[in-house]
Amino acid sequence: GEPATFGAVVGLVNKLQQICTQLGDTAGNSILVDKLSSIVVVGGQSSGKSSVLEAVVGRDFLPRGTGIVTRRPLVLNLVHTDDPRAQEYGEFMHRQGQKVYDFEKIRQEIEDETERHLSKSPGKVVSPIPIYLTIYSPVVPNLTLVDMPGLTKVAIEGQPQSIVQDLEDMCKQYIKGDNAIILAVSPANADLATSDALRLAKEVDPLGERTIGVLTKIDIMDKGTDCRGGGGAGGGWRDVLCGRSLRLRHGWVGVVNRGQADINKKMNMKDARAREGEFFRTTESYRDLDNTGTTYLANKLSNHLISEITRKLPEIQSYVDKTIGDYKSQLTSLGSDVSGNRGKMLHLILTLCQKVEKAFTRIVEG
Ligand code: GDP
Ligand code: NA
Ligand code: MG
Repeated sequence: GEPATFGAVVGLVNKLQQICTQLGDTAGNSILVDKLSSIVVVGGQSSGKSSVLEAVVGRDFLPRGTGIVTRRPLVLNLVHTDDPRAQEYGEFMHRQGQKVYDFEKIRQEIEDETERHLSKSPGKVVSPIPIYLTIYSPVVPNLTLVDMPGLTKVAIEGQPQSIVQDLEDMCKQYIKGDNAIILAVSPANADLATSDALRLAKEVDPLGERTIGVLTKIDIMDKGTDCRGGGGAGGGWRDVLCGRSLRLRHGWVGVVNRGQADINKKMNMKDARAREGEFFRTTESYRDLDNTGTTYLANKLSNHLISEITRKLPEIQSYVDKTIGDYKSQLTSLGSDVSGNRGKMLHLILTLCQKVEKAFTRIVEG
């Protein structure tokens, strides 16, 4: 089935990439990679981070479950492919050249590679060394997503107390950059005051300019905490979602992902989304809210990315101007030696300028 998509972002980022590639920008040293955002999920252990990330991508491929399942950061590069009929596949950096078409096998390899790495250091439970995975697909924008091991307050059994700080430092590395959008995940079955995600997000983004609050597990919250008291900071979770308590500049999104029983039963993504929609449509406390569900979250991320890109357009534009300027001065410096080619080269450059201008107009005018 169709995954939740990033809509307009796919086309936008793709066009920008084409422009920059035309101008000689290469993937390894890409101005776009520097300029565009990454999305990083942070939160406590088992708060539902991997489930959120996977739901947003719309594909089942991440290890999830109770306990520390994500034990190394996963840096997930989504790469847009042009052919709409092309089959999606993943490729790991530690297995270059090997295309994996089966997403179940991708999940298995994430688990296996985690194990291979960690078994080299007996007693070690988590590692800061990331696994790099690239997914090629016609329905994704060029974007980097990062899945992090969960934060803990107390040392994991058999680990030194320093693990708590190590995990936090690791997370900060990924969210401190200006380009990172932080998905701060908090589960609705625990008190928000104890949310590690919010605390950490606030440290690196005090004004909340790039933080989106995601409330998970709304289906299994403590009874009676939806509208009043309980974990939801005074007024209940409904007030959190409405922005009446614990305001976040970019607000909150409530989601319902698969529980452990659903995972054990291998419920697929499509059914999970259908059930989530049903839950928010039929649950009295939430059915009048629009900021619920994974589709809403994906759209919100899209819009956020578009405004980020728009903000960075002047920088990209000046890169383009500079490159064209370089072409022109090179041409001039060739002087009369190549007078025979001059007309031809000028034509090429003018065509290039027109292409760039056209592409930018399309982007600005949508
Ligand atoms: P992570 O450790 O933060 O990456 O969390 P996971 O995504 O691995 O999820 C941890 C556990 O919580 C798994 O057993 C999930 O099935 C369960 N879970 C995650 N989100 C939800 C949710 O919205 N509702 C319910 N009922 N369970 C969830
Ligand atoms: Na987990
Ligand atoms: Mg996880």
